[in-house]
Amino acid sequence: MQLNPSKQELLQIEYLVTSATGQNMVKDEGKDVIKGLTKTPKSLPSKYFYDRQGSQLFEAICQLPEYYPTRTEAAILQEYAQEIVAYTGPCELIELGSGSSTKTRLLLDAYYRQQKSSKYVPIDVSETILKASAIELQKEYPNLPIQGLIGTYEQALAYYQKTSYNTRMIFFLGSSIGNFSASECDKFLEEIATVLKAGDYFLLGIDLQKTAAILEAAYNDAQGVTAAFNLNMLSHLNWRFQADFNLDLFSHQAIYNQDKSQIEMYLICQKTHHVHLKKLDLTVNFQASESILTEISRKFNLETMQKDLESKGLKPLRVFTDPENLFGLILCQLSL
Ligand code: AVI
Repeated sequence: MQLNPSKQELLQIEYLVTSATGQNMVKDEGKDVIKGLTKTPKSLPSKYFYDRQGSQLFEAICQLPEYYPTRTEAAILQEYAQEIVAYTGPCELIELGSGSSTKTRLLLDAYYRQQKSSKYVPIDVSETILKASAIELQKEYPNLPIQGLIGTYEQALAYYQKTSYNTRMIFFLGSSIGNFSASECDKFLEEIATVLKAGDYFLLGIDLQKTAAILEAAYNDAQGVTAAFNLNMLSHLNWRFQADFNLDLFSHQAIYNQDKSQIEMYLICQKTHHVHLKKLDLTVNFQASESILTEISRKFNLETMQKDLESKGLKPLRVFTDPENLFGLILCQLSL
């Protein structure tokens, strides 16, 4: 990373290398893959979407005409960023799963203009994207200290204990919370409440329940970018674990499960065959039309989510939505 010396002090990048329990992540790498591929029905953790190629494909998904969440959330932020600043006053901004920080700029602009942000902390698993966007942001906001953290949410929350006297706002945009199961979501909100101190803020973006037609179109786009994103998980496993998945033998499927209010993304096996993952010393048999669940994307009800947040001590202060009620942003404060 080439930066001039005075800028280096304002931009720091750190690696979060240990798990919440202090265990060595490298030693455990791939255990989740073994677990998912040896049970029935098969599944794979959605974190394996995000290698370099997968992160780029996700950025492309965000631009798709069918994928309304990104532009809708951006429009809400555009309209209400000033109001959010007015609620929180000066604060340290911590973003979980920052990616390219595109939407973040709408918030950063509002805080920066009013000189109300003391620091921006983007946290992401993708080192490439985090570094590139931190360097870009440093150019755009030359006086803003930026501390990029490379790691998972769990690692970040474990690192982020109540060590700061500054007011903080953690934000989690894009409805990434929808990719957690109900119990993971519950645990996550509890951790947020533990990490924040009384009076700190949490800004949460959630995709709202709507017709299956709109949802299924968003996850089965006409250009096939979501299909490429889903299949890329197998390429990722191929290089990471020396596996021999043949991508031509799997196809993408996304359906809306009305009962569970969630999109379910699958890779469907086209032909009976087996796959070897050398680094994990694992051979997996696949039957024709067998599925691998790669992601759930839960869709929420605003009232229910507000109650859930409130039950963790995260008191909703204000709810922002778009005119069509496609997406919601909830600003909460940890009870004083
Ligand atoms: C990151 N996450 C919120 C996206 C979603 O909509 O659940 C991931 C995604 N999967 C397919 N398209 C987008």
